Amino acid sequence: MKRFNIAVLPGDGIGPEIVGEAVKVLQAVGQKFLAEFALSEALVGGASIDAHGVPLTDEVLKLTMKSDAVLLGAVGGIKWEGLDYSIRPERALLALRKELGLFANLRPARIYRELIDASTLKPEVIEGVDLLVVRELTGGLYFGTPKGIEKLPDGTERGVNTMVYTTPEIERIARVGFDVARKRGKKLCSVDKANVLETTELWRKVVIRVGKDYPDVELSHMYVDNCAMQLIRNPRQFDVIVTENTFGDILSDEASMLTGSIGMLPSASIGSTKNRAMYEPIHGSAPDIAGKGIANPIATILSVAMMLKYSFDMNEASDIIERAVEKVLAKGYRTADIMQSGMTRVSCAEMGEAVLKEL
Ligand code: IPM
Ligand code: MG
Repeated sequence: MKRFNIAVLPGDGIGPEIVGEAVKVLQAVGQKFLAEFALSEALVGGASIDAHGVPLTDEVLKLTMKSDAVLLGAVGGIKWEGLDYSIRPERALLALRKELGLFANLRPARIYRELIDASTLKPEVIEGVDLLVVRELTGGLYFGTPKGIEKLPDGTERGVNTMVYTTPEIERIARVGFDVARKRGKKLCSVDKANVLETTELWRKVVIRVGKDYPDVELSHMYVDNCAMQLIRNPRQFDVIVTENTFGDILSDEASMLTGSIGMLPSASIGSTKNRAMYEPIHGSAPDIAGKGIANPIATILSVAMMLKYSFDMNEASDIIERAVEKVLAKGYRTADIMQSGMTRVSCAEMGEAVLKEL
């Protein structure tokens, strides 16, 4: 029997609710496919600040380092917004990404036929959309230095962040983009702002160079502002998008709305070694609906499906979860965020239950 150690970090807001459902799905799949998942749950983000004064303790970081994979819910909330940036809940997420070396974040946006009317966009625009955003995750504006807020002699302040990329950083994320494009529709669109930002001028140059190793993948380039427009104008033109950290953060939220709700998009953060990976929904902790039991657990459940596929090579188990989600949607079960008239409105727990039943 295969045995995997998984660090489970529910986090804040709706995190514990959605992770709770995803864990049930994981355990059920483990029984079905004779894999043992040893789960270690720990605090992260605001929950960790309340208990230990810091968003990520050394113990929890160590736990994630010796685990085969990490399942994370969400971090952050109004309660901790006044804190200094260096100890905000979000820091935990950034530290985990950085310390675990998870430089590539895969965010698939796929339209479920059943949800075609749940999107704010016209059905004919989104029908058949199946794209993947490959977001660079450990560089760019999020991590570049100098950064911070300083007081100036005249009493005003100056805030600085730095967008910086080195050739090796661009090369490795470009390779991830080309590799996944090769396994999908063989089209890669690299998104930059090379008409203005030097760092992305370098980005474009390096991506073109790496592309020489992938003659079978059709490479195109797009400025980020145009990409934001094209995503809602004609999203079907995209297969794989590869882009820097901040652009990827923004574009993946936009892409999620093609699918009807941000509550539908899973993500996998991977690095260069297979035993380091983190899986989480792309959405946040949604403090406004936390504790009400109405959150959509599907993004987290689909993140578990990604874990099975990318970390544990359990492709069949992964597919079974995706099929189960499709069936549940086909049966008309909807959480509040994807509710449509004539459908059955269910809670977070009921949605989890419904997916379990279809496994
Ligand atoms: C995401 C989130 C995070 C990010 C926040 C919570 C730090 O928006 O995963 O997209 O900006 O990366
Ligand atoms: Mg985001």
